[in-house]
Amino acid sequence: MSARPRIGLIVGSTRPSRIGRKVADEIVPAIDAAGAEPVMLDLAEIDLPLLNEEAHPATDIRTEPHTIAWAEQIEALDGVILLTPQYNGSFSAPIKNALDSLYTTWKGMPGLVVSYGWSGGADAAAGIGGVFAHMGGELAADAVTLTFAPTDFDEDRSFGEVAPFVARYSDDIRQGVEQLVAAAAAELVSA
Ligand SMILES: Cc1cc2nc3c(=O)[nH]c(=O)nc-3n(C[C@H](O)[C@H](O)[C@H](O)COP(=O)(O)O)c2cc1C
Repeated sequence: MSARPRIGLIVGSTRPSRIGRKVADEIVPAIDAAGAEPVMLDLAEIDLPLLNEEAHPATDIRTEPHTIAWAEQIEALDGVILLTPQYNGSFSAPIKNALDSLYTTWKGMPGLVVSYGWSGGADAAAGIGGVFAHMGGELAADAVTLTFAPTDFDEDRSFGEVAPFVARYSDDIRQGVEQLVAAAAAELVSA
């Protein structure tokens, strides 16, 4: 039996009151159902410092233990989901730093962008997709954009239940993840 592709799920928000981790938890079953092994990469837990390596990431010369560990986590993947909120018309700073901290490691990596916000965080999705492609990442499907509705929020304007919000997009998530896993599996076979 061939190995299941390992799909990383990078959680791009780190705020204490974020919904990002809950959104990620709702995406995990779709990775599993598509026949892949989910690998949670929560940037709030990983706590990657702002890029502080002496050498340019494209050299692959790393001396800081946190960058070395981050590179090893990404090198162990067959594909990656970039999960980002929309902040001020773009994607989050933590996920930009996570991408910028490596370079060649992203080359040829199958990827899927999942964004959320009003209008689905479409600007965030477009931006991060461009950055990923710039570094040689290969987007396997159109971005999955999860759009807030007024009913997602409680009277105090805090976000309500995350599961029903994500469930509205379960078909889009399933299709995107299936395309990503297919691309990752194809890479595994050709490797
Ligand atoms: C700093 C900041 C900027 C935001 N800017 C936007 C925005 O430009 N467009 C949008 O649709 N939502 C925006 N929002 C709303 C976020 O999409 C929403 O709060 C979401 O829950 C953020 O993801 P998180 O909870 O995982 O951090 C912003 C939120 C924050 C905290």
